[in-house]
Amino acid sequence: MLFQSVGSHYTLRQALAHAFRLGRRQHTSILERTLSDRYKGRATLFSRGRAALAEAVRVATGGEGAVVVNAFTCYSVVEAVQSAGCTVVYCDIDLSSLHYNGETLEQVLLDHPEVNAIIVQNTLGMPCDIEGIETVSRRHNVTIIEDLAHGAGLLYGDGREAGTVGDITMLSFGRDKLLDSINGGALVMRMPDKLAHVKQPVQQPQLRDQLRDRVYPLLAVAIRTGYPIGLGKYLLAIAYKLHIAVRSADGLLSTRVALPNWQAAQAYARFSALNGDLEARRKKRDSYHQQLVGMRLPEASLAASAAPIRIPVLSHRRDEIVAALKEKGYFFEDIWYDRPVSPARHYDKVGFDESLCPRATLAAKTIFNLPTHQLVDDAAIGEICAVVNRFAPDVKTEEAG
Ligand SMILES: Cc1ncc(COP(=O)(O)O)c(C=O)c1O
Repeated sequence: MLFQSVGSHYTLRQALAHAFRLGRRQHTSILERTLSDRYKGRATLFSRGRAALAEAVRVATGGEGAVVVNAFTCYSVVEAVQSAGCTVVYCDIDLSSLHYNGETLEQVLLDHPEVNAIIVQNTLGMPCDIEGIETVSRRHNVTIIEDLAHGAGLLYGDGREAGTVGDITMLSFGRDKLLDSINGGALVMRMPDKLAHVKQPVQQPQLRDQLRDRVYPLLAVAIRTGYPIGLGKYLLAIAYKLHIAVRSADGLLSTRVALPNWQAAQAYARFSALNGDLEARRKKRDSYHQQLVGMRLPEASLAASAAPIRIPVLSHRRDEIVAALKEKGYFFEDIWYDRPVSPARHYDKVGFDESLCPRATLAAKTIFNLPTHQLVDDAAIGEICAVVNRFAPDVKTEEAG
């Protein structure tokens, strides 16, 4: 049995190491230094990625005006912008990268002079049109925030590394992300004149929250193991009900809460292993690409430097495909993203106008993801591709106008 998420970045051994990881102040310092050096700015660590993003938005905008957000994104991005005091303006995506490009951005900036900043997110670890986006942003004098939740370590088409182009860089150490430490995030401030504007988080997370983060990988191993005998599903439901686990788009957003030392140690370990992890994901991307017949992968996912955290595939028969995979023991129902602003339980409250963003809307209706994490091996890729190949070809990019 293979899952898209459910703690798949943790084997039992890794989950035990995570549960008992020790951390001292020096682990926080070394992570801060490493990120500061890599992204050429000053790093501040937060208890969640969305808190780092909220602080980035607040510093970039002074807490007023609007921020451009990719029209195919996670609710926590919208939550971060709003909690910083700004409104969200969505920019529709290209189906070839699941990200907006310079041209669409230009139109949105002309229509919305109140925009002070944009968030670039390199969806699922695919490089966006950074040159076009950068040119337009500089022309309109808006701040670029690079969100590396999906794209840490990614190189853009022009060879620059994601996180070294914009004015502020944000990383997530949240669960199922590349730097999975269950929770956590960082802001790297690259604007010397605004360094002093970043408020340092002063509180430690509550012990209950830290305990929850320590045990989640073990719980996830138990859930995955219990699935074949029918126990896993109930264990997961009970864990949510008793708040032993929290859904990843939920929970508190506070810019006052710091990353604890032990989680900084975990995030540092992930960051140190990042290059190897990305290389392994690229190989899996290549295997999927070779073995999928009739289902085209988005062009940007095939870029030499792309190491997708999940491989996006678009098909009008998405639901049938996901069901057929489930029959074979592949649980891929957790889709990034099955709403333009995902997950579904938060979608109604964001007031997303689907008529303004037809391509993001089409993507959300047709996308499914193929995993590239450590538990995916050659045999699994072969089996997954055999199932997917039974279905009709992909969505044509011109469909959404
Ligand atoms: C693109 C993107 N940015 C930011 C975040 C927020 O990160 P975190 O979960 O660490 O708060 C997420 C996910 O939740 C995300 O998908």
